[in-house]
Amino acid sequence: MIKLDNVSKVYGTGTEALSDITLEIEKGELVFLIGETGSGKTTLLKLLIRDMLPTKGSITVGEFDVVKLSSSKLPHLRKKIGIVFQDLRMLMDRTVYENIALPLEVAGKPLAEVKKRVDELLLQVGILSHKEKFPIQLSGGELQRAAIARALALSPEIFLADEPTGNLDEKTAHEIIQVLADINKNGTTVVVATHDLGIVKKFAKRLIALDKGKIAADSKRPTHAEKTEDKKEEKAASAHGSSEPKEEKDTKENEKTEDNKEHEKAEHKAKESK
Ligand SMILES: Nc1ncnc2c1ncn2[C@@H]1O[C@H](COP(=O)(O)OP(=O)(O)OP(=O)(O)O)[C@@H](O)[C@H]1O
Ligand SMILES: [Mg+2]
Repeated sequence: MIKLDNVSKVYGTGTEALSDITLEIEKGELVFLIGETGSGKTTLLKLLIRDMLPTKGSITVGEFDVVKLSSSKLPHLRKKIGIVFQDLRMLMDRTVYENIALPLEVAGKPLAEVKKRVDELLLQVGILSHKEKFPIQLSGGELQRAAIARALALSPEIFLADEPTGNLDEKTAHEIIQVLADINKNGTTVVVATHDLGIVKKFAKRLIALDKGKIAADSKRPTHAEKTEDKKEEKAASAHGSSEPKEEKDTKENEKTEDNKEHEKAEHKAKESK
């Protein structure tokens, strides 16, 4: 679903924000992109939506070659991705309702549908009662929820959240990540950039640790070799009449094996860079 191949980004100032990043994120995954401030998390997310181009390397998002994408196809890529930026970018002179309705209106949805969808989204993120408030009248957590709802409006296949728990207390931060995990459960591929390791650890999902623009660790799902091994074991198990479903088995295997080691490494790296 998302593929980066030897991607580097050097800003005009000469800062190399990302260097030689190669990674793959599969459809339906929930991934935490962790790393200290300045490690390149936001840069990576911005490259995915083609907010800017990489200095080198290739990026694929779904069926799109992001680097070579023509400007006429850019809206198609953007429609696929919902993003909540680090600074949220809510329109301060519009209500929560108006902020969330905007992308739907721009997409030409009829008023009745817009109203229905906004209510649905507000309910999903748990702030229906704040519908008519202005952003300034919301708490940090509520504002984050409103920004999430807006980014979800057009039902994107991929959801990116940049530091969604920044400045939130632990309980609220946990609730926000839970909202993102629920979005993922509905089938959306979710990538969350954060330095809040304590929170993400509780969710036991894939961690990609960035350190000074490089991948320091990746607790990814099994490598091809491991998958092949799994398949062999699976075949052997089914030959013996085991009825254990594949999905569940994969997860259990991962918990026991390399995945755990990589997970620890990713966590360790993130702690180190603090
Ligand atoms: N527009 C820009 N121009 C020049 N340098 C930039 C620009 N944006 C980011 N950088 C630099 O690139 C590096 C990576 O920045 P980035 O914002 O991707 O990090 P981050 O991991 O998101 O950090 P944070 O946790 O603070 O949000 C940093 O050294 C930063 O100073
Ligand atoms: Mg950032």
